[in-house]
Amino acid sequence: MKRMVVPVSGALVGAIVTLDRRSDVGLVTQLTQQLRALIASGRLAAGGLLPSTRTLAADLAVSRNTISYAFEQLASEGYLKLSRGRRPAVATQLDDCALVPDPAPRRDIVRMPGLSRWASQLVSTDWPMSYQAPMRPLRAGQGDVREFPHAVWARCLRRNVLRRSRAHDGAINRLRLRHELKEYLQANRGVRADADQIFILPTAQAALSLVAAILIAPGDRVLVEDPGYPGAASAFRAAGAGIVGAMLDDQGMLYPGDARPPKVIFTTPSHQHPTGRLMSVGRRLELISAAQRGESWIVEDDYDGELHYDGRPVPALQGLDPQARVLYVGTFSKAMTPEIRVGYLVAPAPLAQTIEIAQRHMGLIAAVDVQEALADFIADGHFLSHIRKVRRIYRARRDHLAGALERQLSDVLAVEIPPGGMQLVARLRDGRADSAVVERLADSGVHVRSLSSLALDGRSEHGLLLGFAAWRESEISAAVRVMAASLTVGRPIAQAPRARSRANLGRTQARS
Ligand SMILES: Cc1ncc(COP(=O)(O)O)c(C=O)c1O
Repeated sequence: MKRMVVPVSGALVGAIVTLDRRSDVGLVTQLTQQLRALIASGRLAAGGLLPSTRTLAADLAVSRNTISYAFEQLASEGYLKLSRGRRPAVATQLDDCALVPDPAPRRDIVRMPGLSRWASQLVSTDWPMSYQAPMRPLRAGQGDVREFPHAVWARCLRRNVLRRSRAHDGAINRLRLRHELKEYLQANRGVRADADQIFILPTAQAALSLVAAILIAPGDRVLVEDPGYPGAASAFRAAGAGIVGAMLDDQGMLYPGDARPPKVIFTTPSHQHPTGRLMSVGRRLELISAAQRGESWIVEDDYDGELHYDGRPVPALQGLDPQARVLYVGTFSKAMTPEIRVGYLVAPAPLAQTIEIAQRHMGLIAAVDVQEALADFIADGHFLSHIRKVRRIYRARRDHLAGALERQLSDVLAVEIPPGGMQLVARLRDGRADSAVVERLADSGVHVRSLSSLALDGRSEHGLLLGFAAWRESEISAAVRVMAASLTVGRPIAQAPRARSRANLGRTQARS
């Protein structure tokens, strides 16, 4: 018998949704799940309007970012239609599969019992959900897909799909791509490895999870840059590691001299994430000798090493290490487009067999046709010419953003110009809390990330992470004008907690 659906008005959503702040499930996820269920069951009628982010945020007492991220997620799934300046509307045409009978109240989704330690750790940080800002200016961490040669890529894919009529030989790391990568990494990044030390994975994040799974035993310590990349801390913490923050100076990560040697040192030496700083060669050699003394492994995340604008890029740590203690991670998400979904791991030879077993076991396999197409894309010179092109474009955008900020916001923001990468850090001069600034900017349509959200304690660094690579100069100019209007006038914003002292160096952190 069909269950009766009791319709609810979109305006009442704030009264129906219940968010549990003590739940292991993040607020964005809870909100997304409940709204999805209301729409899928037909209780929120097709075409009906939901409250604005501002109203719903006030009703639920959460930040507007939380609401925006949930709305964006539902829009990407086809449940909502978002248009600028209008309230979100329930989609008028839902896929058949989205229309399900009124489900029983899914309290069990909000309070999942019996999760593994691994899963509980993952959901408690709410990463990467909280990391996905809407794809609007000045979102950081992405290149401009509009500059990618889609037609050339499509030709490489097509050719390989058609070739694929012959039997698949079973290799999950395609030999041609391994070989092309080996040559490319050797010539351009100074990486030394044989082709069979290169593992092709769906993302760099997959490489980090794989490394965490094979190296970390519960209680091991992992040293990470602070502020740093939450995806790495999250992967190592979920595997049972205690995360130890290392401070940074202008040459990069500082190895804490008095610390018990960590099992793993995670670093982003090409352009430190998020500050963009380049680790000096001297600091690289110090880190390598610390790893040798402490018998630690170094995980080098070279996520955007190709995108270097000033001078020659410094070779990878991996190539400087005589003892092969470095696991080198890379990705095509930044230099090409995230949709490619290909990352890679270059592993020391003694770990190679274990990695392949774990890779098969976890199913971390990139689509064979995509691997073969990528091998052609590199071999035919398209990859290098794309990098050369975007390097020129992104450098001009970096300078454009830095110049516009300097002209319009120099009394509010101190800009740090990175030698490469896709984003820059602008510190708040007057000690305002960056999270409040980020929310205020999001209200005006400019989406940036707070530096505090990338600090292990979630509060000791204050500044804004502003993306430039994905945005045209006109888009950057418009965003900076909005920022100037929003940050230089209006109500005062809450003060930030005091910055941490250097004495905190090396303590174990509970969360990122
Ligand atoms: C420092 C760093 N490493 C790794 C990644 C993940 O790359 P992928 O998309 O290949 O997982 C990112 C993505 O933002 C990043 O910023």
